[in-house]
Amino acid sequence: MKKEELFQIYKDCIVPSYTKVPLVFVKGKGSYLWDIDGKKYLDFFPGWGVGNLGHCHSKVMCAIRDQVSKLIFVPNNYHHIAQAKLAKELNFWTQKPYKVFFANSGAEANEAAIKLSRKFGQGRFEIITFIDSFHGRTLAALSATGQKKYQEGFAPLVQGFTSVPFNDLNAVKAAVTDKTVAIMLELVQGEGGINIATPEFVKGLRELCDKHKLLLIVDEVQTGIGRTGTMFAWQQYGIEPDMFTLAKSLGGGLPIGVMMAKTAISDMLTAGTHASTFGGGPVVCRAALAVLRAIQKEKLLKHAKDSGAYLCEALNNLKAKHVHIKEVRAMGLMCGVELTVPGKPFVEACIHKGLLINCTHDRVLRIMPALNVTRGQINKAVEILDTALGSL
Ligand SMILES: Cc1ncc(COP(=O)(O)O)c(C=O)c1O
Repeated sequence: MKKEELFQIYKDCIVPSYTKVPLVFVKGKGSYLWDIDGKKYLDFFPGWGVGNLGHCHSKVMCAIRDQVSKLIFVPNNYHHIAQAKLAKELNFWTQKPYKVFFANSGAEANEAAIKLSRKFGQGRFEIITFIDSFHGRTLAALSATGQKKYQEGFAPLVQGFTSVPFNDLNAVKAAVTDKTVAIMLELVQGEGGINIATPEFVKGLRELCDKHKLLLIVDEVQTGIGRTGTMFAWQQYGIEPDMFTLAKSLGGGLPIGVMMAKTAISDMLTAGTHASTFGGGPVVCRAALAVLRAIQKEKLLKHAKDSGAYLCEALNNLKAKHVHIKEVRAMGLMCGVELTVPGKPFVEACIHKGLLINCTHDRVLRIMPALNVTRGQINKAVEILDTALGSL
């Protein structure tokens, strides 16, 4: 099929809810993608946060192939081995007593956390969230999201969400009412522009939750699975959330969402109170197991920390050179370069030179390469960024 024909089909037959880049990809391996014309790209934003192992990791491909040849689907009223193994493996990584609810996306995982909060609250239902947060596009997740631009046109929203300034503990304290049941946050706001929660803020939230019997919900949809240098970002803050959610890269490219809840509250979701037909099916669970094992076997948490520090230093060197760079923010391999001008032209210049990155919040270049990225690939990306920044 020719590109022009394909673009026409998209125009005629697909809901236009995405801002599209005119690229058609046909192949991926590690940190590289190839388009339909055979051009090779270095992908420093693989799969919008899905590609923590890069594209088509061999162990993930093997696991999927093997499972597909045996049994593709088992509904959740029965049992299957891959789901049990994945739940156990996730618990190995938390080292704490959490139970797992399986869904299919980040938004669904957050919906599960919101619903469990309401069960726990027994009449208390308000959840405090944060300005510039992002929790997904389903109606409750959208209502939790602290960005008006995503909510416009969809009123009335689900009631019971209040957004307050991020990293402002006094604002949170002032927002607590006798109806508050939970506080929900991303430890690094991704869509909001790579804003990192301070340790004092997060410790303060935990104390506030303990004092008022509130649940602390951490949305790890983007920060989880090694992105920040630990399996879950909360492990770097010396706190334990009551619930946390995972999605994106856990499935190695297949759709998955996970809500992890402390055992004491998880059992409130009794039989029949919440469900997902596809959640935690055998194929995606095998893929997720392969992802977690590859992270361990290839020592990717340490690699992400080291590579993140290396990339951050290189980006700060660019800052010293380019007046358009206001600030570099990073935790592990979750990096943001805030510009003084809109980032779209820089992203386009990078694409032209064979580097894929993202721009969020208008002015923040979001750079999140695969955890197994090499120094050589980082050097190449920084070189392209340097040229792109210099040329505009
Ligand atoms: C922090 C966070 N939460 C939730 C979501 C929603 O995930 P999904 O698109 O899988 O529903 C996203 C997606 O970008 C996200 O970044």
